[in-house]
Parts: sequence; C-alpha cells; structure tokens
Amino acid sequence: MIKFIDLKTQQIKIRSKVENKIKKILDHGQYILGPEVDELQSKLSKFCGSRYVLCCSSGTDALLLGLLGLGLKPGDGVLVPSFTFASSAEVMPLLGAIPIFVDVDKSNFNISANSIQAGLDTAKKKKINLKGIMTVGLFGQPCNMDEINKIANKNQLWVLDDAAQSLGATFKGKPVGNLAKVTATSFFPSKPLGCYGDGGAIFTNSKKIYDVAYSTHLHGMGKDRYTYERLGMNGRMDSIQAAIIIEKLRIFQSELKLRNKVANQYIKVFTELNTKITLPKIISQCTSNWAQFTIILPNSINREALREKLSKKQIPTAIYYPIPLHKQKPYKNFPVSVDGLKNTEYLCKNVISLPMHPYLTFKEITFICKNIHQLIN
Ligand SMILES: Cc1ncc(COP(=O)(O)O)c(C=O)c1O
Repeated sequence: MIKFIDLKTQQIKIRSKVENKIKKILDHGQYILGPEVDELQSKLSKFCGSRYVLCCSSGTDALLLGLLGLGLKPGDGVLVPSFTFASSAEVMPLLGAIPIFVDVDKSNFNISANSIQAGLDTAKKKKINLKGIMTVGLFGQPCNMDEINKIANKNQLWVLDDAAQSLGATFKGKPVGNLAKVTATSFFPSKPLGCYGDGGAIFTNSKKIYDVAYSTHLHGMGKDRYTYERLGMNGRMDSIQAAIIIEKLRIFQSELKLRNKVANQYIKVFTELNTKITLPKIISQCTSNWAQFTIILPNSINREALREKLSKKQIPTAIYYPIPLHKQKPYKNFPVSVDGLKNTEYLCKNVISLPMHPYLTFKEITFICKNIHQLIN
C-alpha cells in the first residue's frame, strides 16, 4: 500500500538522535517545561522571525490561548471559514464568542478579500460586535495576508492566523508565524512539522499578548506559581515533545523542498495526462508546505466509488472536509455570510486529498496519477 503520510521513513532518519534526547530528559527529570521547551521556542522564533513564541499543549489550545491573548470576550464576533477543521471555529463558542462563517476562494481553498467583505456586511446586519478575522492556511498555503491585513486594519480588527497546516510556508518571502497579529500552529504527528503526541505553539510580536497567553497556559499564574492573575488552563508542552520537534526542525527545510518536488511532480504528470481535474493553485509570491495535495474532481464523478477503486489499487485517499462546519450540529445556529457559502459547499462535495509526504517516489506519483486518469477520463 502506498502511504498517505510516511512518518516511518522520517523516524528512521532521526531515531537515534531522538532517543539520545529522550535519554537526556530521563536523566534530568524535568518532564514538563524543561530546557528543551525553551530551546524549541528560541529556534522557532528564529525560524519564523517572530519575537515571541509560546509552545503549548496542542494546536487547538494554541488557538484558545491566542484568542484569550487578544482579549476575545463573550458576545464578540470573529470571521472564520467553514471549510476547515473544527478547531478553527470551536474555540470561539467555548469562550462565548460568535463565529461568523465566511466562504473560501475555490481556486486556493482560503478566505479572500471578497469573502471577508461579505463577512463584514453579515456582522453589521446582525449587529454583532466584530473583533477579528481567523485566517486558515488550508492544506499548507497561507491566505493573501496583505489583502486581509489591509481590510483588518481598515476595520480595526485583529487577525489570528490558524497555521496548524501551513507552518513552513511563506508569503512574499515572509514566513508563516509572522504574517498576522497572532499565529497558532499544531505539532500533531501528521502535520509537516509534527511531534509524537500533541503539541502546538503561538507566535506574536506583541509582548502584551504573549504575557497573557503565557500566564493563561499556566492556570493564569501571576507573580508566582500559586498566585493567580486570571482564569487559565493547563496548556503546557512536555519536554519530550519539544525535543522531538527540535530534531524534526533540523530536517524541516530539506523536507519542505522534497514536499515541493512531490507536488510539482503531481502537477506535471496530471497536466501531461490532461486529466479532468482541477489542480491546486498557489497564489502569486506565496509558497506552500504542501501539508496536503488536494484536487477537485468534476461534479459528475462519484467520489466514494472512485475512492473505493483507488483503495483496491492500494492508493489511499482522504476527504478534507466532507461536511462544512456551518452544516454541523454544534455550529448550525451561528451566522453565515450574507453571500452564502457556495464555494465551501462545492468543495466539500468534490475535493479529494492524495498521498503526500516528502518520501513519495516519482514511480508512486505516476502510478497514482495514471490510475486517477484512467478512472475519471
Ligand atoms: C486547520 C487546523 N486548525 C487547528 C487544528 C488543531 O490542532 P491540534 O490537533 O493540534 O489541536 C488542526 C489539526 O488538525 C487543523 O488542521
């Protein structure tokens, strides 16, 4: 079977280094917030050019800490795509705030200036006190952050970038992690930079936001451990996860190059075959980390039947995401864009993600492309 994501090959490359690091942690015994967490934070800060980095327990907690750092209050509104993973939106109602679902661009899967404008109109119509925009760099590509930051500034909104999938990508030469007021990422194992458990981080250039997030992730700690300044949570990262990410960060740039090579090979082979699909497009002056390679099938194709046939050929696929958030039980009563979510609904019906990892061979890519071509052309 072709692997959808190949963590094993990567593990073999770094295994002895990871084992050495874990041995060191067993020796020093600082299992939580050990020196590895500090080391990782300063390495990530250098990697993204972001002044403050706070490692934490997961990507979802990073979003929560980011929103708390930004001062989100019950009743406040935030624009968020509906074509995303649950975490992007769930953190808002958990804080009593209101997600307002906006549409995405069909060509790049991300929110755009137009969809944000419709979101602004929706908030105005519904008299919601809009505070911010959550961008999501879906499948590894950042949003057009110039455009979005411009609208945000004009409307006195903040931008929180959910970069759970897009860490390692760039926009106009600037790395993700430094494109918004706050960025949150995930180190879930299947992410391009993943650990061997749960982990996440927030990035910001604001000391004020960092300080609130730092205190919150330690139960709202004040001047010492048992003095509390605010409500908080257990949002800490453990030393073993930090050590694993440090080792993976060393090979991250070379893996990003390989991911780009794989994506380009997919695009080349599908283009040569003239397969009736829509290939993913990267916006101008932007790079992707290719967390996923997601194509759009023609409306006429029975996606589940295609997946079954591909599975019989040992080609695994995934659907990110089959049902948009605004159509799901916990989110049904939250507002949706006045322009509707046509692209979101279309994409949920027609997207399919193909195997993607740095170690996919040209032979495997060609095999996948030829099989898809045969089944749909
Ligand atoms: C877009 C997006 N946001 C947030 C998250 C949450 O990350 P975690 O699973 O580390 O909580 C994910 C993880 O899959 C994600 O894809």
